[in-house]
Amino acid sequence: MQMNPVSKLALWLILLGSVLVSFAELDYGHCERVVKKWADSSSSSREEHVINKDKRSLQDLLFFLHVPRTGGRTYFHCFLRKLYDSSEECPRSYDKLHFNPRKEKCKLLATHDDYSLMAKLPRERTSVMTIVRDPIARVLSTYEFSVEVAARFLVHPNLTSATRMSGRIRKNNVISTLDIWPWKYLVPWMRQDLFARRDARKLKGVVIIEDDNPYDMEEMLMPLHKYLDTPTAHDIIHNGATFQIAGLTNNSYLSEAHEVRHCVQRYKSLGQPVLQVAKRRLDSMLYVGLTEEHRESASLFANVVGSQVLSQVVPSNATAKTKTTKSESGSGKSEIQNGTSEVALSKMDVKSGNMTVKTLMEVYEGCISHLRKSQGTRRVNSLKRIYPANFTRGTRTRVPNEVIEQIKSLNSLDVELYKYAKEIFAKEHELVSKNLVLTSKRSIVDLPNELRSVFGEMNDEKLWKFVSLALMLLLLFLFFLFVNARRRKTSKVKI
Ligand SMILES: *[C@@H]1O[C@H](CO)[C@@H](O)[C@H](O)[C@H]1NC(C)=O
Ligand SMILES: *[C@@H]1O[C@H](CO)[C@@H](O)[C@H](O)[C@H]1NC(C)=O
Ligand SMILES: *[C@@H]1O[C@H](CO)[C@@H](O)[C@H](O)[C@H]1NC(C)=O
Ligand SMILES: *[C@@H]1O[C@H](CO)[C@@H](O)[C@H](O)[C@H]1NC(C)=O
Ligand SMILES: *[C@@H]1O[C@H](CO)[C@@H](O)[C@H](O)[C@H]1NC(C)=O
Ligand SMILES: *[C@@H]1O[C@H](CO)[C@@H](O)[C@H](O)[C@H]1NC(C)=O
Repeated sequence: MQMNPVSKLALWLILLGSVLVSFAELDYGHCERVVKKWADSSSSSREEHVINKDKRSLQDLLFFLHVPRTGGRTYFHCFLRKLYDSSEECPRSYDKLHFNPRKEKCKLLATHDDYSLMAKLPRERTSVMTIVRDPIARVLSTYEFSVEVAARFLVHPNLTSATRMSGRIRKNNVISTLDIWPWKYLVPWMRQDLFARRDARKLKGVVIIEDDNPYDMEEMLMPLHKYLDTPTAHDIIHNGATFQIAGLTNNSYLSEAHEVRHCVQRYKSLGQPVLQVAKRRLDSMLYVGLTEEHRESASLFANVVGSQVLSQVVPSNATAKTKTTKSESGSGKSEIQNGTSEVALSKMDVKSGNMTVKTLMEVYEGCISHLRKSQGTRRVNSLKRIYPANFTRGTRTRVPNEVIEQIKSLNSLDVELYKYAKEIFAKEHELVSKNLVLTSKRSIVDLPNELRSVFGEMNDEKLWKFVSLALMLLLLFLFFLFVNARRRKTSKVKI
């Protein structure tokens, strides 16, 4: 049988195609096994143990799994640092290179490291807390922050000098943003990009920037939609919360994490087992906050975590906290510092047993307003260098709808996880409010400090007076209604 060249080619193509398809299937099968194996080992009895135990009681070590750009910094500076002495903090929490948590007798570990760090911690004696944020806001904030930190380096005449400078900062033994995952990848990358664009502008001479949309300003910085589709963003940003809680980030301690993550990134359906593991872990956490529900989250933290830390404090001779204040100089320095001198109330009050949940909240409020102010100033100063690009509260409305959809689709696991975190939060919030009300029916005098603070200075007698007054008013009101109704009836009869 003779074949014409076209049908020969077609036959070859079909053959080649089927070979490729079976390779892909093989790869899919392999990936499926890899992910399943990981999921099985991640939901083993060892983890169930934690879930079954009372997850609400604070253990010896508090592990704050800080998902980047969720507002965790305010929790670290304004809650945790007020509750724990610096000597109780695991050394260099945010720097994975330099510590062995098993060896240290520390009580607080705040880090961007992912859940795989748990393998190095005394699991049964560790409570985990985290904060989850709407993935769209988290991704936008990650973009803006990468730009903001990178733009600080534009004070330097060229990239060589900027890079040398940050190397010098690192040697000074302070934690810099550039040491911390994920910024240690995102910032140098963005910095290089900003310098390249600046050099290009210099070569061109006068550049007129017409569009004032900061998310799409090619001459000044990498546009958002391009940023989202880079290998780096895929490696580090998308579904970042799910991967971090699952312990599968690019920064994981688990050797098989990278293969699992790559499989999930290649085959969307394999994301489900990962999502399930992340959900179970949220279930077992001592505390899950929501960036969006800022006030309620802070209050839940104070009541659930804060109260327990405070009740564990043994009143002792007050010793002033030795603060390690590091001076700020040059660009690119730590984001972790400078939360130091906000509010006069500090460790003294905790150690003397004088701090209650109410005062803790007051300290927190004062602290965050200070922190936000200094962050705001820093941001404005940094973004000046890429004028007219500027990110403010209002600018996010400039992100086109299709880019928002792009973010949603690239972060579909995080979208699901966020939904789930909201359910957990609603339940916990209700439970804590209900507990506060229930306990109030018993004697107020028996209440622990934190609950007493909710009811202010009311004592039993006052409460009783209040209740009887309310009852009397209610009776009066009913009586009034009754009289009124009768009167109407009688007037009808007259007509
Ligand atoms: C970068 O700037 C430094 C400091 O001004 C200068 O000494 C150096 O020659 C510059 N390097 C390049 C490649 O332009
Ligand atoms: C993590 O991501 C960065 C940026 O994409 C990359 O340079 C680095 O090699 C990755 N690390 C691992 C272990 O995959
Ligand atoms: C408190 O300080 C006093 C005097 O400085 C000392 O005698 C006492 O042992 C201290 N108590 C504690 C619990 O450290
Ligand atoms: C750090 O905090 C100190 C004390 O509040 C303040 O004077 C200083 O300006 C802050 N530095 C930065 C860079 O925010
Ligand atoms: C506790 O607070 C009260 C009132 O603010 C103060 O008088 C007292 O000295 C404080 N106690 C300690 C041990 O600091
Ligand atoms: C950027 O926006 C902020 C807030 O609106 C403003 O204070 C700041 O001056 C702006 N920066 C520049 C360089 O225009």
